[in-house]
Amino acid sequence: MLKLKQKILDLFAEHGHEKSPEAEANLILFNAYRHRYPIIQKYSEILQGTFTDKFPMTAEIEEEAMKMANQRIKGIPLQHITGNQFFFEHDYIVNSHVLIPRPETEILISNVLDVISKKWPKKPFRFAELGLGSGILSTEILAHYKSALGIASEVSPQAIAMARQNLDHILGPGNWEDRFSILEPADLHIGFEIFGDYKPMDLIISNPPYVSVNDEIEAEVLRHEPHGALFPMVGGSDEGGKENPNFFYENFLFNHSKILKPDGIVFFEIPHERADEIEHEFKNAGFKTNLIPDLTGRSRVLMAQK
Ligand SMILES: C[S@@+](CC[C@H](N)C(=O)[O-])C[C@H]1O[C@@H](n2cnc3c(N)ncnc32)[C@H](O)[C@@H]1O
Repeated sequence: MLKLKQKILDLFAEHGHEKSPEAEANLILFNAYRHRYPIIQKYSEILQGTFTDKFPMTAEIEEEAMKMANQRIKGIPLQHITGNQFFFEHDYIVNSHVLIPRPETEILISNVLDVISKKWPKKPFRFAELGLGSGILSTEILAHYKSALGIASEVSPQAIAMARQNLDHILGPGNWEDRFSILEPADLHIGFEIFGDYKPMDLIISNPPYVSVNDEIEAEVLRHEPHGALFPMVGGSDEGGKENPNFFYENFLFNHSKILKPDGIVFFEIPHERADEIEHEFKNAGFKTNLIPDLTGRSRVLMAQK
């Protein structure tokens, strides 16, 4: 094992940092090495330890890696330290204004791309996304399908700036603006109705804020990730009302006839704790539904169509 990796693991052990120490040490090394040697692109090279002969370690690499490890033991999310997160097929830039892309969201996008490949393999299709965040979902669709035309809404101007950076970084500046636009709602109460001024969509996707104040949530997430990306902030205790973690699902059902084509398809990321309850609401509104599980068997994605 690389001496530097052992040094990071020792620091983690000394400070009781037990969250995937091996994987996190690899990611720190990967980032420190590729900042010095931008030619290193493959994370797998770190896992196999294959690059160390070709790319010698330098004092700067060691200094940067240990700086990252020291930030990590203070509880700062690794992605905020390295400034990136791999999602599906691309490397995304992230910061504290956007939700860090999650593995369960890869289940959503892989199912979305699967459906597109069957329904509109070459034909143009129109999609909308509520809650663009770092841009991962819309960017993956645009990267895979040149025929895709999309709109996304995002209430946080800082998240919109980050999504634009990712669209430029992955698709290239000037390569997406004519087929994708971003809308900023005037306030948090505006949900799917924002798409009502456009022709109904073939596909609607969303990983909306859906955490309830009663759900279990890690302290690190609560401390470092934007609360507007986690909790639906509408009508909740801040506004003197009762929280409604299902706000965006219900808001979609209220607006769907204006924004989704009669044969359109919708994909939502959902909390496994309320998967059945949300599916029930979609069935009551006349949708045929399919709950898609994660690797642990918990329902994390709802697909629905009339
Ligand atoms: C759970 S995050 C998802 C981000 C990204 N799509 C992903 O999957 O990682 C939800 C996003 O919805 C945004 N959001 C919250 N309320 C909104 C609203 N009323 N309209 C549009 N976006 C909203 C948040 O700022 C946040 O970026």
